[in-house]
Amino acid sequence: MTGTYSKVYLVDDDADLRAATAQWLELAGYQVEVFCDAPSALAKLDPELEGVVVSDIRMPKMDGMEFLARLNRLDPDLPVVLITAHGDVRMAVAAMRQGAYDFLEKPFEPERLLEIIQRASEKRRLVMENRDLRRRLNGSRNIEQRLIGNCPAMRRLHREILDIAATEAPVLIQGETGTGKEVVAHCLHDFGTRHDNRYVAVNCGAIPENMVESELFGHERGAFTGADRRRIGRFEYAQGGTLFLDEIGSMPLPLQVKLLRVLQEREIVRIGSNEPLPIDIRLISASNTDLLAECSAGRFREDLYYRINVVELRVPPLRERGADILLLFDYFVTRAAASYQRPAVSLPPAAANRLMAHNWPGNVRELKNVAERFVLSSLPTANDSRQLRRFVHDGELLFSAGVAAAA
Ligand SMILES: Nc1ncnc2c1ncn2[C@@H]1O[C@H](COP(=O)(O)OP(=O)(O)OP(=O)(O)O)[C@@H](O)[C@H]1O
Ligand SMILES: [Mg+2]
Repeated sequence: MTGTYSKVYLVDDDADLRAATAQWLELAGYQVEVFCDAPSALAKLDPELEGVVVSDIRMPKMDGMEFLARLNRLDPDLPVVLITAHGDVRMAVAAMRQGAYDFLEKPFEPERLLEIIQRASEKRRLVMENRDLRRRLNGSRNIEQRLIGNCPAMRRLHREILDIAATEAPVLIQGETGTGKEVVAHCLHDFGTRHDNRYVAVNCGAIPENMVESELFGHERGAFTGADRRRIGRFEYAQGGTLFLDEIGSMPLPLQVKLLRVLQEREIVRIGSNEPLPIDIRLISASNTDLLAECSAGRFREDLYYRINVVELRVPPLRERGADILLLFDYFVTRAAASYQRPAVSLPPAAANRLMAHNWPGNVRELKNVAERFVLSSLPTANDSRQLRRFVHDGELLFSAGVAAAA
């Protein structure tokens, strides 16, 4: 017996029989947890148990039939093997009828129990694999709800994200401002294997140059003037999880050298310390400028570029997404209407055409702002297209004046 799906929950009030059976099963390679009654087994039970339950029927507190019924409610696919008293055919039949996987009459040959458990574990393994598969399928549906878009480029991006999320490769996300790079980064984390650990985002462009190093790597107390206590850096904080370096292109050149070293050595040293700390993070970076062009201009190190860019994801500008503009508009209108408790009015064709024709320099962020203003301005109604046309036009004016882009 190897690997998972080899757990057995053994419930029996007879201490001797329990110990002897547990020993047998352990010798056969099973991981056994013993319980003297059903309630204590129920209290500990993991509904995703990668294994089977073996239980006596006649027990104080809760009998095996009641236990079976409760387990069935928790997970009808969990195999339960019941042990009946010798000759108690009526009970055995009832157990099978109620969904027990199998039953065994006392006294039983240990080999016989092993045989049954082996089959039951195999069945459990198949059920759990199936569930996992279904979960992943749901994952692909979920990503469509997180990163809205139906055009071929966005559909491809969905697939790429799900494929890449499962790996450890560093990813560079490139795309104009407001295209959804941060959403993509978060999806990579959430759909990946590190989703139970932290997702830590750092905007390299928003931290003062002299603070970036301490922000990323941390510092010891007294490392520099003003360092009055030890600080854990973002790398350390993201241990076991994902670190998202946003606007990586704005990282100062001297720090790029340090970052490269950290990525090569897979360890950091807090400022003011000599002690290297091993780090285990998945790195995702993003840039809204063409990083390769930044390399040519001498503003970004080429060696670092190739380190962070093992996989590259491009998020297309909104103007190239066709009908997704209206899809996204509807999505943001619905959300804004719900959160501001306003009616979600639909867009008349004339206004829709204006949205489609617009160039969207601020991309999805700009569209989101227009949608929110559309909901908030209580003026437009579904049949007042002139007002709407003016509204969308005003929206454009607002954006070209740079007012809404700051929102
Ligand atoms: N496909 C999408 N589906 C749903 N919401 C989206 C989508 N793309 C972007 N958004 C939303 O649009 C806004 C801007 O997206 P985001 O912050 O990810 O852009 P960005 O590419 O990181 O921009 P910047 O380069 O300016 O940092 C956010 O509110 C985000 O939730
Ligand atoms: Mg961003």
